[in-house]
Amino acid sequence: MPQHVHGVVARAKGEPVRVETVVVPDPGPGEAVVRVQACGVCHTDLHYREGGINDDFPFLLGHEAAGVVEQVGPDVTDVALGDFVILNWRAVCGRCRACRRGRPQYCFDTRNARQRMTLIDGTELSPALGIGAFAEKTLVAAGQCTKVDPAASPAAAGLLGCGVMAGIGAAINTGGVGRGDTVAVIGCGGVGDAAVVGARLAGAAKLIAVDIDDRKLATARSLGATHTVNSGTTDPVEAVRDLTGGFGADVVIEAVGRPETYRQAFYARDLAGTVVLVGVPTPEMRLELPLLDVFGRGGALKSSWYGDCLPSRDFPMLIDLHLQGRLDLDAFVSETIALDEVEDAFARMHKGDVLRSVVIL
Ligand SMILES: NC(=O)c1ccc[n+]([C@@H]2O[C@H](COP(=O)([O-])OP(=O)(O)OC[C@H]3O[C@@H](n4cnc5c(N)ncnc54)[C@H](O)[C@@H]3O)[C@@H](O)[C@H]2O)c1
Ligand SMILES: [Zn+2]
Ligand SMILES: [Zn+2]
Repeated sequence: MPQHVHGVVARAKGEPVRVETVVVPDPGPGEAVVRVQACGVCHTDLHYREGGINDDFPFLLGHEAAGVVEQVGPDVTDVALGDFVILNWRAVCGRCRACRRGRPQYCFDTRNARQRMTLIDGTELSPALGIGAFAEKTLVAAGQCTKVDPAASPAAAGLLGCGVMAGIGAAINTGGVGRGDTVAVIGCGGVGDAAVVGARLAGAAKLIAVDIDDRKLATARSLGATHTVNSGTTDPVEAVRDLTGGFGADVVIEAVGRPETYRQAFYARDLAGTVVLVGVPTPEMRLELPLLDVFGRGGALKSSWYGDCLPSRDFPMLIDLHLQGRLDLDAFVSETIALDEVEDAFARMHKGDVLRSVVIL
């Protein structure tokens, strides 16, 4: 029997989101219904509402979630009723050219539920990143459910489903930060702070946080940054060089997604160092750099999609580190809110007041 639940729907570009009745079908082959317990508010949800991702309105928002598997389709064997799971947007196919080459973290054909959730009048909903978890229940592909230790709180665990994983993975997976490296992170929101935490876990010796907001710099320091630079008042390239013997950092992570901060990352990096772009730019942005500098400085210029994570490998491992007290996920939960407070949470995110607001269901 299809179930009726409450969900946060964006009906049209720029219109405030509203809680509406959502119809969740029974899971078919390869699908699961998850009872959502917590879902973080990510910048990408706001991008969807603003029409910045695509025009497939109406959207069912929410995608940084944890919950319990409530129903599975007939052939599903890898998750079972009662499993505590984090929802991921990288359910790998096992068959595309990336998967076949043993690089499933780049899977080019990731899975989502085949059936659609709808409004009460039958209008099909587009779930954000194929998840749609600002709802009491959601329908996903079974592969989007990654089982983790249920001792973790849903609010903390859910954050690994997007932004925190993207940041930690940008440092560890994409940037390859290692013991003794010097690292700079430009933009210390939820994603950049997670990169700080990831670089610290990986053994970075010097960890420089750069932002234009002193509140964000204070948080970055509490999460392990050894130095902070307010780039609104200080030239961040010179500051990073000064802090690294005049050379620049081994790895610089750009977590804003703008040409000027990318250029800062490029020049704040030591010769043969690595730049990681994890911030998401908009279509009209352009980057200009002297090609001779691109050549002459050597090293690697990389982008990080979802922190190059493999959910089945990374989520359980990071939850274990969290439960051992080595990864403070709770520090990212600025506030917990109800389903009907998502619109207000967007405003607070926009003003920079929070790292993450988390909807508790
Ligand atoms: N690559 C991925 O898979 C992935 C996943 C999730 C989010 N993201 C992207 O990561 C970026 C950051 O997301 P977030 O949730 O942390 O956002 P956020 O709004 O919480 O944080 C952005 C931070 O950048 C700072 N900032 C803004 N302009 C700056 C400037 N000129 N110089 C220095 N700092 C500046 C802000 O003060 C803020 O602290 C966004 O572009 C988001 O879309 C990427
Ligand atoms: Zn694949
Ligand atoms: Zn997200």
